[in-house]
Amino acid sequence: MEAIRVYPDSSMSELRATAEAGANIALTKYWGNADPDLRIPANDSVSITLDCTRTVTTVAFQPDRPEDEITVDGRLLTGPARERVSHHLDLLRERAGVPWRARVVSRNNFPAGAGIAASASGFAALTLAGAAALGLDLSPRDLSVLARRGSGSAARSIFGGFVLLHTGARDEDAFAEPLYGPDWWDVRDLIVVVSRAEKAVPSSEGHLLAPTSALHRARVARVAELNRQLLDALARRDFAALGHAAEEDALLMHAVMMTSRPSLIYWLPETVALIRRVQALRAEGIPAYFTIDAGPNVHVLTLPAYADHLQADLRALPGVQAVISCRPGPGASVIPHPGE
Ligand code: DP6
Repeated sequence: MEAIRVYPDSSMSELRATAEAGANIALTKYWGNADPDLRIPANDSVSITLDCTRTVTTVAFQPDRPEDEITVDGRLLTGPARERVSHHLDLLRERAGVPWRARVVSRNNFPAGAGIAASASGFAALTLAGAAALGLDLSPRDLSVLARRGSGSAARSIFGGFVLLHTGARDEDAFAEPLYGPDWWDVRDLIVVVSRAEKAVPSSEGHLLAPTSALHRARVARVAELNRQLLDALARRDFAALGHAAEEDALLMHAVMMTSRPSLIYWLPETVALIRRVQALRAEGIPAYFTIDAGPNVHVLTLPAYADHLQADLRALPGVQAVISCRPGPGASVIPHPGE
């Protein structure tokens, strides 16, 4: 039987909520889709939600608003960026049976153009704030499925700590789940910023090119094994095993990117220099492993005892603009409005 829905009364001034979410770093990557329309990933991926790069988003659905208005870090979104958010709000509106357009105000605690992708934290915060504003009664798993429709990696940012995103045959099967909370293991992610430029080919376009690489299928098959190794490494807190699996998949993903048509080469000379530096540090006995997303910046995974030394070492390399030190952080949460 259809559930009875209570429509908001148009005499209400607005339906509003605020939520916060953190970015995440994938240890095994989401690259390529099994279903591009639904953003169902080609493979499972494992990530760490970060404490340092967070987005706070307020969504206010208003009865007499003619269209969605979206502001990110004080800038009004237009064109495809606005459409993408508006389309995501449509999914929430359809669920709730509420047609009202929304005013969205989103802020990142890291500077826009810092070379850190905000789509994961952004769509996780947007999904939770929108659902809360509309009074949708969704489980965290349902929220992760919805967030995935906005940005694949956003599904993982719904949860804190160490997270697994499943691929699946149907929309509802491709959900994220928490493996361990943020306190399970104090690993560090040093984000080494070598470029703040907007990437030439955004991830959304890159995913569509993955199947043009002869290596894509081989990578998807290999990631299944790497995920098994990662789950085992997490359970045993075996940092070397975690690092080796993460590095291998980062290199596999970039091999797929480089051999796509057209070829995607996200690396800069500084990226390669950082890879070599991490390898050299490791040869000296320092537990450091790299991973790289769809851009030139390098994430260096390490353990707390080595973080300060490593941060200083990496900061001193030519072309390094900043090193941001992150640790596992909490999942997305609703923030009460002042006075409520
Ligand atoms: C390389 O989640 O940014 O960071 O769904 O198009 O928003 P869209 O893609 P996105 O892709 C993530 C790509 C990656 C790897 C990862 O985070 O798993």
